[in-house]
Amino acid sequence: MNKIDLKDTYLKFFESKGHKIIPSAPIIPENDPTCLFNTAGMQPLVPYLKGEPHPEGKRLADVQKCFRTNDLDSIGDTTHHTFFEMLGNWSLGDYFKKESISWSFELLTKHLNIPIERLAVSVFKGNNIVPADNESAKIWEELGIKKERIAFLDDEHNWWPNMELTGPCGPDTEIFYWRSNEEIPEKFDPNDENWVEIWNNVFMQYNHGEDGNFTSLKNKNVDTGLGVERVTAILEGVTDNYKSSVWKDVIQKIEEISNLSYDDEKNKKSMRIIADHIRAIVMIAGDDSGIKPSNTDQGYILRRLIRRTIRYAKKLNIDINSNWEQELSSLIINKYSKYYNELERNKNDILETLKNEKLKFNRTLEHGLKEFEKVVKNLTGNTINKDVAFRLYDTFGFPIELTQELATELNLKVDTEGFKEKFAEHQEKSRQGSTGKFKGGLASTGEMETKYHTATHLLNAALKQVLGSHVHQKGSNITAERMRFDFSHPTKMTDEEKQKAEELVNKYINDAIPVEKMEMKKEEALKLGAEAMFIEKYGDIVSVYKIGDVSLELCGGPHVKNTKELGHFKIKKEEASSSGVRRIKAVLE
Ligand code: ALA
Repeated sequence: MNKIDLKDTYLKFFESKGHKIIPSAPIIPENDPTCLFNTAGMQPLVPYLKGEPHPEGKRLADVQKCFRTNDLDSIGDTTHHTFFEMLGNWSLGDYFKKESISWSFELLTKHLNIPIERLAVSVFKGNNIVPADNESAKIWEELGIKKERIAFLDDEHNWWPNMELTGPCGPDTEIFYWRSNEEIPEKFDPNDENWVEIWNNVFMQYNHGEDGNFTSLKNKNVDTGLGVERVTAILEGVTDNYKSSVWKDVIQKIEEISNLSYDDEKNKKSMRIIADHIRAIVMIAGDDSGIKPSNTDQGYILRRLIRRTIRYAKKLNIDINSNWEQELSSLIINKYSKYYNELERNKNDILETLKNEKLKFNRTLEHGLKEFEKVVKNLTGNTINKDVAFRLYDTFGFPIELTQELATELNLKVDTEGFKEKFAEHQEKSRQGSTGKFKGGLASTGEMETKYHTATHLLNAALKQVLGSHVHQKGSNITAERMRFDFSHPTKMTDEEKQKAEELVNKYINDAIPVEKMEMKKEEALKLGAEAMFIEKYGDIVSVYKIGDVSLELCGGPHVKNTKELGHFKIKKEEASSSGVRRIKAVLE
């Protein structure tokens, strides 16, 4: 087995070529609400690719946490992963094609000891915007890559990201490796799946504008990406990524837990899915943004991953009520926290999130699967209708994708369009039912969420009592499992302050104070001293919620009728959110 440490070798190599090593950006993009996850190493660098100077200079390299949902259905094969690590090096208006290609070649053949006979490349064949990339082809030839191993391909293959997306982009050259024991063909055939892509060098010199035009960027940049999982497998001489050191210990643990063997073909897919998903779950739940399973955005992806993992664990006859998911996620946390220390910091959160979601789903999974079987038995035709799909979602917590997957296994279809319509109708109904006409940007309004909304007002009031009148709400995020509350305050709260705030909220709850809703003119509410965040967001007539003489706040609701409905309030964490803003995570028990 090859003992080369890929990440280490890569970063050291580019350091020796004058690159600064920068840390991985979080997997949840920090300042980009249009994007759920970081999907490539270049994503956090977009402003610098567009010309802003980077504080670390013009040559950068890193290993970036990436997550791609478009590969979700391919998971279970030997090469695709939802979460993966991408090694990358960048030139921000510094070196260009010659250095980029030569260094890739040098690293692969001299430091990673990959024989040149096993390599092939593709270059851009040109279109009406950019001419063929003969320059890159010539550089490859000079380095010793034979003409037959260089393919000129169109923009479907050799333009990154593609011709449709806006932002920095450009032609690329991709490097392929012959990953098979069969004889290596003289000529490179990009359609032969034994040639696997290992590294992409993008010559990012264009910006695709919103108006559809391609204009030159201020700089000629280089953006490269090399997949850690694939190349590790290659270096270790295995044709299945899950047999490489990236996954071996995880698969072994799954074998141990299930008492089954990975070498048995019928277990492979389930084991790969569990391994892949558990790692992705740890990375998403371990991000500092505190994502929890929910029905929207990243929370929904997290929920889908957890529920899909549980279903596959059940397929392997793992006792899903045992601690299997804690064992597996702890293994991943330990393995990766030396690279990503937020995993250690958020370890308890990760384990708890996984456990809570598991308990929630375990209660309904069995019944849901029985229901599914019953439906299939009585089915006429081959399509599961929207009402059944919605019942599986609403009553048994089956994400629509899970129902689809179960159906596909039996060669059946699901009326997903109908499901989506029903889902939208249902959302509209519960929105109207619980919040009246104004929803105030609230994502979800179930019974627990409603309680957390009221708890937010109580906490806001309690913090003003304990810390002072400078406390104002700066943000809030509510799921069925917890509340997050951001507020202005310059310093870390002491244990005593936290305890006082917690006691005060519980006192308000025990005092069983009625929650009154009033409608009034905005000016009137402000005159009464009502607390309001984003005042400009509200119309002329506003809803104000009054909780005795404890709290008066402008709010779209929804709220409980009496504070006694809330149960027991507990602060789980107090931490910095941004400069001058603290964040409290709390639960109702
Ligand atoms: N940004 C390029 C990719 O992800 C390197 O393939």
